[in-house]
Amino acid sequence: MLRKSSKLPAMGFITVLFLLLHSVGLCSGGATSQYVRKSEASIDMPLELFPPPSGYNAPEQVHITQGDHVGEGAIISWVTPLERHPNVVTYWEEGKINQKHKTHSITKSYRYYNYSSGFIHHATIKNLKCDTQYFYELGKHNAIRRFSFTTPPKVGPDVPYTFGIMGDLGQTYDSKATLDHYVSNPKGQAVLFLGDLSYADHYPFHDNTRWDSWGRFIEKSAAYQPWIWTAGNHELDFVPEIEEYTPFKPYMHRYHVPYRASQSTSPLWYSVKRASAYIIVLSSYSAYGKYTPQYTWLQQEFPKVNRAETPWLIVLVHSPWYNSNNHHFMEGESMRVMFEPWFVENKVDLVFAGHVHCYERSERISNVKYNITNGLSTPVKDPSAPVYLTIGDGGNSEGLADSFTYPQPSYSAYREASFGHATLEIKNRTHAYYAWHRNQDSNAVTADSIWFYNRYWYPNEESS
Ligand SMILES: *[C@@H]1O[C@H](CO)[C@@H](O)[C@H](O)[C@H]1NC(C)=O
Ligand SMILES: *[C@@H]1O[C@H](CO)[C@@H](O)[C@H](O)[C@H]1NC(C)=O
Ligand SMILES: *[C@@H]1O[C@H](CO)[C@@H](O)[C@H](O)[C@H]1NC(C)=O
Ligand SMILES: [Fe+2]
Repeated sequence: MLRKSSKLPAMGFITVLFLLLHSVGLCSGGATSQYVRKSEASIDMPLELFPPPSGYNAPEQVHITQGDHVGEGAIISWVTPLERHPNVVTYWEEGKINQKHKTHSITKSYRYYNYSSGFIHHATIKNLKCDTQYFYELGKHNAIRRFSFTTPPKVGPDVPYTFGIMGDLGQTYDSKATLDHYVSNPKGQAVLFLGDLSYADHYPFHDNTRWDSWGRFIEKSAAYQPWIWTAGNHELDFVPEIEEYTPFKPYMHRYHVPYRASQSTSPLWYSVKRASAYIIVLSSYSAYGKYTPQYTWLQQEFPKVNRAETPWLIVLVHSPWYNSNNHHFMEGESMRVMFEPWFVENKVDLVFAGHVHCYERSERISNVKYNITNGLSTPVKDPSAPVYLTIGDGGNSEGLADSFTYPQPSYSAYREASFGHATLEIKNRTHAYYAWHRNQDSNAVTADSIWFYNRYWYPNEESS
């Protein structure tokens, strides 16, 4: 687990050193931001700041995600703390309150050491109209709660769509700043979440009441727009010492994804199409060697991607493959070795990762020539390669990863030790505007931004 190992003054010194090296031409890499974030403790907000909604057995921790492969379905999830019923969602199209539909949920509960969960409901609603606002209601009597969301436009090559991107969020005051910052940014239509959700595993016996508080924390966004989930190491909750032997137990009970719609056999890896994007989610913490279920699935997945229908091919994975921070350095390497040739052959546009609590953007590079005898193990510029983005800077209690490797490697285009979120505004089949927003600035300020060009339709070199 990541711990703060160096303090900000040291970073300031290193930044100065770097600038000196840079000015005498010893460093061929990209930029390390000179922005030095104020040193503040990242502490979890107290439970009192996550109050349950009022009313008996009121539905809480409401969140939605895509419910099928193309965005005409949604999975609506919530928890009722005391009773299993009502286990139904009522929903209707905007302006058609007289034509209400009802869908029942699948309801689960689980025990974790001495914790017992509430009733966790997942209702999949289908056959929704494209690009349409829907309202939905949960609960009964004095505990009825109403929410709304908008379905994506029909899948197509030039459909504009904006994703928000966050990772490693946790539930500190910094997490709150990141989420509030994202929510106040009106552009985001769906969130790509890069893993490490609640950080409940920092508490004794992985106190799962911190999974509940996290569900209440994200509701202000996740009940109104889908969050596309990736699992991180803090979702493992594997603790044999207290007889908790099932990896991902709390995560898999609480966060359902439409994995069967992409012929996956596990919720930890799957794909969805949304507007003009094809999104593949991978699991850093499940087997990916040759012949494993994840490997076989991904191999069969690439030929299914039709760039004439979904030009933007985007991969989400928790542990980054290209990152130049000392924290978690090279943890993603074994997966890169297995999968990178496919990413280059299939011209993946962007790979988003979390895990390292810092922001970083790579050049378009690949490192696929190496075999164990030839010595060709240096990343090289490659116009068919994705850009790798690390956005593990949601603001959790482990703090920032503020110790970079020096000199900055040539594959690293920009890096900065701050908290924040990113947005990806897909405009059409060729252009997408990407921006990373630092928590300390207003949304209008972008600390890093670039126009990305689609690798299939317009594989020109980008400049930031
Ligand atoms: C679970 O056990 C821990 C340690 O004994 C204790 O502090 C905590 O209050 C218990 N929680 C419940 C819900 O019993
Ligand atoms: C290793 O790479 C070298 C140089 O690219 C190539 O000539 C050789 O055939 C490769 N070895 C194997 C076993 O593929
Ligand atoms: C795609 O979007 C970019 C950026 O908005 C614009 O410059 C370009 O002309 C668009 N392409 C087409 C074919 O409309
Ligand atoms: Fe992580």
